[in-house]
Formats: sequence, C-alpha cells, structure tokens
Amino acid sequence: MKKTPLFLFYIMLLTLPLMAQINETGLRENAPFKKEVDSVLSLMTLEEKIGQLAQLSGNGEVTGPVTLNNQYQEAIRKGEVGSMLNINSASYTRKIQKIAVEETRLGIPLLFGYDVIHGYKTIFPVPLGESSSWDLEAIEKSARIAAVEATAAGQHWTFAPMVDIARDPRWGRIMEGAGEDPFLGSAVAKARVRGFQGNDLGQKNTMLACAKHFVGYGAARAGRDYNTVDMSKRMLYEVYLPPFKAAVEADVATFMTSFNELNGVPVTGSKKHVKGILRDEWNYDGLIVSDWASVMEQVIHGSAKDLKEAADYAMNATVDMDMEGKAYVPFMKELLDEGKVSEKQIDAAVRRILHKKFELGLFDDPYRYCDEEREKEVTLTPEHREAARDVARKSMVLLKNDNVLPFSKKVKKVAVIGPLADAKNEMIGTWSAQGEGKDAVSLLEGLQNALPDADINFVKACEVEGHDKSGFDKALKAAEKADIVIAAVGEKAMMSGEALSRMDIKLPGVQEDLVLELAKLDKPLAVVLFNGRPLVITEVAKKAPAILESWLPGTEAGNAIADVLFGDYNPSGKLTVTFPYALGQVPVFYSHKHTGRPRTEARYTSKYIDGPNEPLYPFGYGLSYTTFEYSNLKLSTKKLNEGETLTVSVNLKNTGKYDGEEVVQLYVRDLVGSVTRPVKELKGFEKVSLKAGEEKTITFELKTEDLAFYNRDWEWTTEPGEFHVFVGGNSKETIEAEFSLVD
Ligand code: NOJ
Repeated sequence: MKKTPLFLFYIMLLTLPLMAQINETGLRENAPFKKEVDSVLSLMTLEEKIGQLAQLSGNGEVTGPVTLNNQYQEAIRKGEVGSMLNINSASYTRKIQKIAVEETRLGIPLLFGYDVIHGYKTIFPVPLGESSSWDLEAIEKSARIAAVEATAAGQHWTFAPMVDIARDPRWGRIMEGAGEDPFLGSAVAKARVRGFQGNDLGQKNTMLACAKHFVGYGAARAGRDYNTVDMSKRMLYEVYLPPFKAAVEADVATFMTSFNELNGVPVTGSKKHVKGILRDEWNYDGLIVSDWASVMEQVIHGSAKDLKEAADYAMNATVDMDMEGKAYVPFMKELLDEGKVSEKQIDAAVRRILHKKFELGLFDDPYRYCDEEREKEVTLTPEHREAARDVARKSMVLLKNDNVLPFSKKVKKVAVIGPLADAKNEMIGTWSAQGEGKDAVSLLEGLQNALPDADINFVKACEVEGHDKSGFDKALKAAEKADIVIAAVGEKAMMSGEALSRMDIKLPGVQEDLVLELAKLDKPLAVVLFNGRPLVITEVAKKAPAILESWLPGTEAGNAIADVLFGDYNPSGKLTVTFPYALGQVPVFYSHKHTGRPRTEARYTSKYIDGPNEPLYPFGYGLSYTTFEYSNLKLSTKKLNEGETLTVSVNLKNTGKYDGEEVVQLYVRDLVGSVTRPVKELKGFEKVSLKAGEEKTITFELKTEDLAFYNRDWEWTTEPGEFHVFVGGNSKETIEAEFSLVD
C-alpha cells in the first residue's frame, strides 16, 4: 500500500490557479464581474439582499405548494424575489421582468429558471434513453438545441442536467439521468453542461445549467421517490459524487440540493455535504439553489424544529437560493440579529446570484432573452426536428433479434398492435417543458410515412393499464393476416419521472399477455417498448423474436422508430442501466463486488435459489443488424510504472452485412486492494463506425491515476498489483488481458 504519489500532488499544484480560492466574498479571486457585483451590492439594503435569495414559482409545471399569480407579482414589487421559475414565453417573461426592473427601487432583473430537461418545444428522448446513444456529440447537441429554444422564450436557467446515478429501476426519476455508471455519467454530465452553457454565457442562446440533485437522491431506499438515503462514504465518493465533480469541471453555473436526507441529515441543510464538499473540497463558487421547498421540508423530515431553524441550516450549508420554501425571506434578518448567520454570508450568497445575472448580461439588457421574433423563428424548426429524429434513433437499443429485423420496405400488409402505437401524448415523456403531444409523431404515423403504399392495420387491443382483454381477438386476427407485426407496448409518459415510482416493473396491465399471444402466431414480430426505466420483460424476451427498446423517444418518435425497424438506421444504442431478470434482483448492476462466496453450484454461495444472479440484459448491451468481432487485445506493457500510461489496443471487425456503429467499452478490475474493488469498472468507451467487412484498430490510453481510489486509510492512491483489462461490446461479453502496476 502506498501514499498519494508525488505526481498527483504536482497535478493538484498545477490546477490550483484554475481552482483559485473562494474567499470570503463568496466568489473566486479571479471571477469576472466582481467589481460590478460589488458596486450593486453596495447599494442594497439588507431587505433587498434577502429578497434576492428567494425564488418563487409561476404557473407552469408545479411540483409542490404554489404561490398565486397575484402574490408573486406583489412579492416581486416588494423586492422579495431574486428569481422566478415556471414563467413561460418571451412575452410573459418580459411582463414579469418589467415589474422587477421598473417597479423596484434598484431595478435588479430577475433570473428565470425552468425544467428544460430533454428539450423545450422540440422534445428529445428522455435522458436515460439519450444516454444509451453513448454519443456525446449528439447529447451535447440536444442540450444546445434545448437552450436555443428556451432562451428565445425568456429562460435563463435550466434545472438540468440531473446527474444522479440510479441503480433502482423502481425509482421513476431514473429516466432523467444517465443510468448506473459514474464514468459514463460523468461524461454525459459534461456534455450536457457544455450543450446548455455553450462557450459563453453572455450569448443570447446559452443558459445556466444546474447539476442536480446534490446528492444521493438516486439512491432513495426501495426506489420510492423522496425516500431516505443511507450510504457509506465510499459509495458516495466512488459512485454518486463523480458526475457532480465532472459538472464542476465543466464549469456548471449552478447546483441544486436534493430533497432526501443522507445518513440522517436532509442534504439541503447539511453543512458537511454542501459547504464541505462543494465549496471547501471542490472550490465551487457557483449559485446553489434548494429543491422545491426542500429548505422548509427539513421541518417535515424532523431535523429542524421550525422554518427559522431550517433557514439557518440551509444558509450555513451555503445554499444561496430558497426555491418556493419561503424560509429565507421571513427569517433571515432574525437569524442575523441572533448571530446565527452573518452579513458576510448573506453578501456571499447575494454576490453569487448577482454574478449569474451579470454573466447573462441582464444588467445590460434585462429583456435580451425575451424575444418574440426569435422565439417564433427558432422553435420547433425542421432542423430541430431532424436533430430530434437523429438523437432518437441513436438512443434506441435492439435487445433481441432472431433474424426478424430490419423489415423490408416492400411489405404489403402490416399489423400495428398495442396501446402505444397511436399515442402521441405518451411519446414525449414527463419533464417535457413546452413540448406538446400534438406535435409528436406517433408510431403509427411514422410507419405510414415510411410505407406510403402498404396496408397498415392498427388495432389497439388493450389499454396500457387494466385487465380488459376484449380487444385481443381483433388484434390477433389482424396479426394473422399481416406479413409483419409490430407490437407497441410499455409505459405511459406519466409512469416515470418525479413521484412516479413503481413497485412492479413489468409491462403494465395485460400487455405482456398480448405480446405472448402475438408471439404464438409465429409471424415476423417486433416488439417496440416505450418506457422511462428498465422493465422486467423476461417472458417477452423468451417468446418474442425481436425487441426494440425505444424509450420515450420525443417529438420525432414514430419517424425515428420506423428508421430503425426498416433499416434506414442500423441500431447502435447500448443500455446504460441493467435490465433485471426479476424484480427481486434489484439493485442489480454490473460493477458489483466479488463477495467471499461468489456463485457456484455449491450450497453455500451467494445466489438466489429460485433464479439467476445474472440480469436479463447487462449494462452496455445492445445489438446491431451487423455483427462485430473483437480480437488481438494488446497492452503496451505488462508492467506499468506509477505515472505511466498504458496503451490498450484491440481490433474490431464488422463481420456482418450492414454498415454499423459499435460502442467499444473498456473495463478494468483491480484484483487485490486494501479495500475490495468492483469486478469491472468502465474506464473508457468509443463509438466507432465501420462499413460491412471493415476492420479498425481502436486504442485507449489508461493513466495510472485512472486506477486510483480511496484506500483503507482514505488516501487517494493507486496500489501496486495485478489488473485485468476487458474490452467488448457490453459489460459481460469481453476479451481480456492482464498487467501489473509496479512501484
Ligand atoms: C422538483 C424537482 O425535484 C426538481 O428537479 C425540479 O427542478 C424542481 N421541482 C422545479 O420544478
């Protein structure tokens, strides 16, 4: 075992200037606009400062107790609001901004925030789906387009990306993140921050991003939203914190604290976590906002005796802005008088808020984002729709294909069966901002567009929920007469997302029975799944010859699915979250530990007596219409010295008939550590495009610091010893090589 190697200290020293110290002003020494911020601050009364710390909601998507229209306008007039959320459209943001600018003493403009999660008006796949593309450029582009549309409608700030790691598919919000893995989650977090924020927040089409929900929210016990979280420091640092750290590295403008308690303390009031990690460890000087009423909810959690104490804890945790909590405005002055918070702390919070307003250029022109012309011009354009179609097809994961897909476009008779085939509203998922179902392309419409001459027979057969099978007969008859059968089943939009946890994650209602009946007909059958979480589809996977996971694909759903089903696009998505074999396995994820008794046939080993340990589909899994062969895995050395880089190369050949893309994945296992290490950890990936028959050599560079972790004494270090390197197209099917790390 070894202490932190010297070279790591050098790296830390080199990056120190970038990380420049946050001083008592609350901002970094070298932050831009510091003088301007201070000149505004010097004009403000205490009441005006406290007013800046409050965020109220307008009438959009409301996720908690609300302030009424006339009340929030009055509060703005009184200088008691620094930011609004859920105020939509260029004209309405202008109207509300006018109150702040013209009817308050200093005319400080408001910040407008909104949940622009996977598109604004043009809706992209839900983030879990989008992450399955493993295509960072596409992911960045979708965030960019969302920002272009949202900023034209007056929005300055999106409450995205959600970077919570999630390993429990019961949790409805699993759809909002990038899945189970911290390495991939970090890469996606950075891409999305870049997309929303661009290179310059001063541009009119870029917006503040928000890394949420800090922290541990994705580990809600039993997958029930808002539930208690209890986790080890190691789990927190190795799994849940990395995507937040990555967001800081990408210069994310804001953070949101989470609803949950973490080891007994609601995070919004946890000085140890918010100030301790974000400000002190990571030197973060961005704006931190609470989640909706999460300051107040400390009282309900039972950790603060009243609203005043709740405000005290949150302020001392350095939460700058109170979202709809109504704890800061009424109690901050009292807390100051009692010495529980200092004016310096209040000033620091106000500076961080004003700083964002300066960065956005709001002091130059408070109305620069409220642009009705631009709003019309850039919203739901053909280019944006085309991008949404492209991202949607890149996100789809082909789970099974017994020589059924792609279908030929020459088919004459198509049966389209199921409750989600003609369901525009369900295509865009929850958190769909200003997206409207009427603008979405249903699967049925997509098929009609793709096959203008075919006879397409649609039968709904059943509802998504309920027990009624009376429509099965008609559906089976239609299927019998058809050349191909497409079954559209899954979850409605409102079955995943906030406060939408499920305790059974099978196909709801009688949909599984429907698919099993269709499968008995022995026709070319493709099951298209719509869902915002992994489902247990074990029976369907046994019987149906082809399954395409389309997620909730967004505005261009039907067109994108048709592109994939008929081979205009060769599927390339890979799961970013494990699909369990049975619910009882949950949480099940690829990077588990080995245990002292790994499963064998022997009696006393770690297993279930009624089913496999293995999931139905592992992390990283997804098929293509072509096949790929991995060979010739080579390491640049068998003995790697501290500070050196290992080059890993592998040959990848497209051995099938179609051109295609493959996500090449690199995993590592540290065989023996002072603390046990996971059986596999993702350390690299590359999406590679290969023509049929083409072969390429793919190379990864692995630095020794990529192998570091907190050792038994909580020192960040590498440890000499044996390592395995795995490369493949999913976390299970890999080829491997070995090397050792030497002192
Ligand atoms: C509550 C959600 O947890 C959060 O993600 C969202 O940004 C806010 N409501 C605002 O709508």
